[in-house]
Amino acid sequence: EKNGYDHFMLKEIHEQPKALQTTMAGRVDAENHQVQFEELNWTPEQLNKWNKIYIVACGTAYHAGLIGKGVIEELTRTPVEVEIASEFRYRRPIVDENTLVMVVSQSGETADTLAALRESQKKGANVLAITNVVGSSIAREADQVILTMAGPEIAVASTKAYTTQVLSFYMVGIYMAQIKETISSQEQKTLIDTLVQTPDQMEGILEHVKGLQWYAESIQNSDHVFFIGRGMDYAVSLEGSLKLKEISYIHSEAYAAGELKHGTLALIEEGTPVIALNTQEELYDKMLGNIKELKARGAQVLGLAMEGNLNIWQYVDETCYIPATQSLFTPLLSVVPLQLISYYTALGLGNDVDKPRNLAKSVTVE
Ligand code: M6R
Repeated sequence: EKNGYDHFMLKEIHEQPKALQTTMAGRVDAENHQVQFEELNWTPEQLNKWNKIYIVACGTAYHAGLIGKGVIEELTRTPVEVEIASEFRYRRPIVDENTLVMVVSQSGETADTLAALRESQKKGANVLAITNVVGSSIAREADQVILTMAGPEIAVASTKAYTTQVLSFYMVGIYMAQIKETISSQEQKTLIDTLVQTPDQMEGILEHVKGLQWYAESIQNSDHVFFIGRGMDYAVSLEGSLKLKEISYIHSEAYAAGELKHGTLALIEEGTPVIALNTQEELYDKMLGNIKELKARGAQVLGLAMEGNLNIWQYVDETCYIPATQSLFTPLLSVVPLQLISYYTALGLGNDVDKPRNLAKSVTVE
């Protein structure tokens, strides 16, 4: 059932291009440059009523929500807040009939996320669930459901569920913008064209894993690994860091690159590994500045950038390139090398990759 792969995690990483395609099928109309959601059927009146959106989830699903915020705010200019479900539910959140609450959960059974859903409904909000499991508690109780079509995810470390959740946010964001007319038809066309090419681009990344394997070996004996980025790259850094600590047991943290000077830089010593994501066109030079600061303190930097931004190699120790795309869409691509780095690091350390210590696939108790 592992299809020739050594672990479910590796199999699931490689299944991602297919999972994206299946999740887009019937929803993304590449010819007419439109997104359709029969399961939602939103009207302009309905959308305009929601003056605020909450995205609520745990762990990796929460990280997908951070990308969702970036996408929805950028495309629709509607304010979005992202919250950890266990915080949201005990915080008397300001939610009412004019709020759309989106809960995200691979399993559809996470206790805190389910409680957040119930709490939101009690306060009169409409709850849209993004989940991978038909018939799960969250799928049954939500007012509306978008199913990610990732197929069963067995490894505790979530990979293809994350990318299909992120994809769902791109689709919902474009769908909302289309209905609210907050983007031009030309913009819409470019967004759809860019989105539909991501599965093939991801496939391209998966064909070149050797360099990442070697890099994983180089960090496996480190005590700490840091991930930094700005904007979308910061959100992906958080996911990369969680993935690494979850299965390699190496301490890792993600920081917004602009925060380095506000404390974190003190942790950098000669040889400290830092994975610096630099895929956001408008922030590229700002990030190079941060990378220079890190190098000056002795950090060992892996720079992750888009093809085309080739000069990054001059500033870093190692490079990793993802195919060129719009800055908004890089998370679907940049997360893949990070997933592979954590996989190979855990593998090199002889850890139980699919079943990391102390963790369960589905967290049905608080
Ligand atoms: O099933 P869910 O998406 O609700 O699960 C949420 C988290 O428990 C989950 O994403 C967890 O963080 C993963 N093990 C991370 O890889």
